[in-house]
Amino acid sequence: MILAGLKRLEYRGYDSAGITVVADGQLAGQKKAGKLANLTAALEQEPLPESHQGIGHTRWATHGGPTDANAHPHWSMDNRVAIVHNGIIENFAQLRSELMADGVVFRSQTDSETVAHLLRRALDQTNDLAEAMRQVCQRLEGAFTLVAVDATQPDRVVAARRSSPLVVGVGEGENFLASDVASFIEYTRQAIELGQDQIVDITPTTVNVTTFDGAVAEVRPYEIEWDLTAAEKGGYDWFMRKEIFEQPQAAADTLLGRVDTSGRLHLDEMRIDPALLRSIDKIVVVACGTAYHAGLVAKYAIEHWTRIPCEVELASEFRYRDPIITRTTLVVGISQSGETMDTLMAIRHAREQHAAVISICNTNGATIPRESDAVIYTHAGPEIGVASTKCFTAQIIACYLLGLYLAQEQGMKFGDEIVTLVRELTAIPDKMADLLERLEPVEALAEELLSAESVIFLGRHVGYPIALEGALKLKEISYLHAEGFAAGELKHGPIALIEPGLPVFVVVPPPGRDSLHDKVISNIQEVRARGAQTIVLAESGDAAARAQADHFFGLPAGPTLFQPLLAIIPLQFFACEIATRKGYDVDQPRNLAKSVTVE
Ligand code: M6R
Repeated sequence: MILAGLKRLEYRGYDSAGITVVADGQLAGQKKAGKLANLTAALEQEPLPESHQGIGHTRWATHGGPTDANAHPHWSMDNRVAIVHNGIIENFAQLRSELMADGVVFRSQTDSETVAHLLRRALDQTNDLAEAMRQVCQRLEGAFTLVAVDATQPDRVVAARRSSPLVVGVGEGENFLASDVASFIEYTRQAIELGQDQIVDITPTTVNVTTFDGAVAEVRPYEIEWDLTAAEKGGYDWFMRKEIFEQPQAAADTLLGRVDTSGRLHLDEMRIDPALLRSIDKIVVVACGTAYHAGLVAKYAIEHWTRIPCEVELASEFRYRDPIITRTTLVVGISQSGETMDTLMAIRHAREQHAAVISICNTNGATIPRESDAVIYTHAGPEIGVASTKCFTAQIIACYLLGLYLAQEQGMKFGDEIVTLVRELTAIPDKMADLLERLEPVEALAEELLSAESVIFLGRHVGYPIALEGALKLKEISYLHAEGFAAGELKHGPIALIEPGLPVFVVVPPPGRDSLHDKVISNIQEVRARGAQTIVLAESGDAAARAQADHFFGLPAGPTLFQPLLAIIPLQFFACEIATRKGYDVDQPRNLAKSVTVE
């Protein structure tokens, strides 16, 4: 059961794994570096005793390499206590020295092992696992989820949570703890969201939640909206491919229920005082990776519709540069997982400066939405592939809803203008579906470009972040050198990279009243003149773009601001095709974790 749960968490990225169970008042376990298959093989050779109480872990190495010894669970010296840990214990060096001075011998190089020894010492004082955990947590600095068993306390598992994810699954005669509901969805859809600095103590029939100070905590039970099939491949070979094809549904579900019959927007989750929303005079978007690119796209639309200045910042950089935030700044944190530590720290910093914080998130009850003033959920369903696809387009849609909502509340757009824009937005799922049926040429292209060593992506305006995202997708799953540039910036340096045969993808905006389209056509000519092989994504009827293309992919027609929602799809698919043709594991690319819960 624990192995199956770990299997469902594999997508989060890891490099070693382990299990400990309690049987007949003793610990038994196994841990192995590498994939779960190694652990499974070891367990087949040496099966564990029958047990109803155990913990398991997949580790993504931070302190100490991915070895058997560094894999979790970690045990106390007398083999009475076992723990697993996510996060980083920042004061572990000091704790470790203190324990070593006391005669403790460490078996690993991890920061986590200190907790096993501290817990064991605390049990000498209290003999109650929850109370011992409470005492240990008071001494820890950093972010952590800890889960512990004590061989002398049957049918009991105790966990603690500060900043890292932890959720309780409530079953019948059985209870679960996990960092993601996917691991227990097979057994129950009833979950309990834990708050910051809380301890949870479970037995097969009870769940007790207290604070680090020992007070009874208020908890929020909820029902998980999706079922096991959503977390399975459903006939696809890879989750990533499945998720690319789920984009029309994800987009439609993200729009669902947010527009009334008169075209007026309602964001029911918007718990921010309308008067405050009307006073917002600056927006700052903080996010990482793909979510950051979604923010970059959204900036164009938000500023255009609301006339409120909008900055987009990498969450990992934000709080270290003393950003200018006031009570009338709206900070928007975008995160698929809702657990990305860099983004969490950025929104915490914003709240400390008294800014209002809205998060855009795909995971019900995750830490980032919990710590925001309001949340707009992207209803994309679970995203398992490490490379984010359907959540990217759903995040852009959620940002657009927010932009239109602000324009509506601040009176920056007339009602009929909003109706027209919302109509364009609601047409997107059908356009996505149409495009997804025409991806065969992208397969042929991937075959043709299989031996490429470097790929360049160009775009202007909203096409620029699409170029960045196209390059990121290719880098992370195919390990190819890929770079995205603003097409107009090329002549200021990167054009030196262009050489005969180099594949250059170009996103061309729809022909329109401004000269943006023609400028991009000129940029294509510049790279063609230097021998590049051009792969052009433009509206199907765009003859000027087609004339400059060695390969042409036609996009459904529509306004420039909505084009990213379509243009990214062939680029995601291209990355997936190249990587699978090269034989790579696209769902779990090397070195990457799905949720990056360390800073
Ligand atoms: O869960 P989040 O949206 O906060 O994750 C942010 C990034 O870590 C994530 O988008 C990452 O860049 C993906 N691997 C991109 O495909």
